[in-house]
Amino acid sequence: MKPIAEWLSSLSTTVTPGNLSMEGAKLYQSKECLDCHGDDANDNETEKTPKLAGQNADYILQQMKDYKSAKRANSRAKKMKRNLSDVNENEMTAIAEWLSTL
Ligand code: HEC
Repeated sequence: MKPIAEWLSSLSTTVTPGNLSMEGAKLYQSKECLDCHGDDANDNETEKTPKLAGQNADYILQQMKDYKSAKRANSRAKKMKRNLSDVNENEMTAIAEWLSTL
């Protein structure tokens, strides 16, 4: 039992999906996503933004990349592109992970 206990306690716990999504929750606030998407990432009346809560993480990440590269570039998408200029891919991944857990 002892070697197993030692092995278990040696495993890294720093990079778990839980930590990633907690990081995402903080970024969602600090990068001001909530200004347009609302605190709970639900459909926001004022800006008429799409509901982000509970969407697939891969899908959300891809949309953010597409806004940033202007692949997704309708007139309203300009608002998103401006916002993503200071959000890197790791940060986008964390935010997408968190949104998918809502
Ligand atoms: C200035 C307002 C504004 C801010 C701030 C903003 N967004 Fe958006 N967001 C929009 C609008 C408007 C759309 C819809 C654009 C369109 O029609 O493609 C959108 C769309 C999206 C989509 C696509 C959803 C879908 O269903 O395809 C994602 C994902 C998203 N935003 C994430 C974010 C994240 C993450 C942040 C913070 C880094 C953020 N947004 C900040 C206005 C904003």
